[in-house]
Amino acid sequence: MAPVPKTMSGILIEETGGVEVLKWKTDLPVPELKEGEVLVRNEFIGVNYIDTYFRTGLYKTPLPLVTGKEAAGVVVASAAPGLKEGTRVAYVADHAYAELTAVPADRVASIPDGLAVETAAASLLQGLTALTFVREVAGLAPPHAPTNQLGVSEGPWVLVHAAAGGTGSLLVQMLAVHGAKVIGTAGGKAKCEIARRNGAQWVVDSKSEDLVARVKEITGGKGVDVVFDGVGKATFEADLEIVARKGTVAVFGNASGPVPPVDILRLGAKNVKLMRPVLFAYIATAEERAAYTKELFDLLLTGKVNIHIHDIYPLQEVGRAHADLEGRKTTGKLLLKV
Ligand SMILES: NC(=O)c1ccc[n+]([C@@H]2O[C@H](COP(=O)([O-])OP(=O)(O)OC[C@H]3O[C@@H](n4cnc5c(N)ncnc54)[C@H](OP(=O)(O)O)[C@@H]3O)[C@@H](O)[C@H]2O)c1
Repeated sequence: MAPVPKTMSGILIEETGGVEVLKWKTDLPVPELKEGEVLVRNEFIGVNYIDTYFRTGLYKTPLPLVTGKEAAGVVVASAAPGLKEGTRVAYVADHAYAELTAVPADRVASIPDGLAVETAAASLLQGLTALTFVREVAGLAPPHAPTNQLGVSEGPWVLVHAAAGGTGSLLVQMLAVHGAKVIGTAGGKAKCEIARRNGAQWVVDSKSEDLVARVKEITGGKGVDVVFDGVGKATFEADLEIVARKGTVAVFGNASGPVPPVDILRLGAKNVKLMRPVLFAYIATAEERAAYTKELFDLLLTGKVNIHIHDIYPLQEVGRAHADLEGRKTTGKLLLKV
């Protein structure tokens, strides 16, 4: 294996702001390995909405920062027993927007044979989010027989906002696999068609339809048992209306801005559970990470869940990727190629 260089290329944020603060550098220091870490040569880096929150300053972090939360590639140096150079790995960890990233060994997953490196990079963070949320928020056990003799799902009513997006696409597919009755929302006809193909049995066009009226109609007035909302500010008020009595509203993102503080007394009218789930707290231990990652890779390898890659951008053009994501121009996953 070629010797590890002293400097590398990557994207540095020195101040918060628009996409122009994502600066391409060719002289970043290669991270020094600590005990228990491996150095990964990133091949594909996943773009996630959280990357934009760190860029804009919505989420606070010390600067300068090499941002980015996931990638896949090859181990090129190892200070961890059991993880050899040459192993194909994917990880959810910090500082991924670079040629090389030092990652604690218990945060990397070996990519199984049969799974392409780009699929691993495109699936890990959003796939683990969708899977942990299906299990731990919606409370759905591993798949049972999904339909009855009429072909109608028996599971709970679940609504997923942005059902053609990266996380939304995976949530819809996994919920469908688990037998939920899934309603997806998406902006525009083309995105609605993708949400339907993902497995949403009902689709509401968030640009042209009245969400509250449509959900009442679809559910016969009951409302949905669970709302998964990564859009945030723009959709939260409707979430409280469409959730069923004793249902759960899980706001897991801020694509349209953060939800303002909520008066807890408002939840009493329907005994609603309000959650703000975050992936990282569901995969806090090595055991949780390993178990959920194995289950995710099995879903991908058996074709029960598929990854749609919107586009692969050169790492230098990460600003264009952020602009497309924030501009609602994308469906599925955005990747960066090193
Ligand atoms: N809590 C966690 O652990 C966790 C983990 C992963 C992701 N997330 C969250 O999940 C959400 C989705 O992330 P993603 O990376 O998968 O992105 P994405 O869903 O692929 O893209 C965001 C989508 O949100 C919709 N949207 C509605 N209003 C918007 C607005 N004003 N501005 C921008 N987008 C708007 C758009 O879809 P339409 O045009 O169809 O409306 C857009 O395509 C984000 O909020 C992210 O922070 C949270």
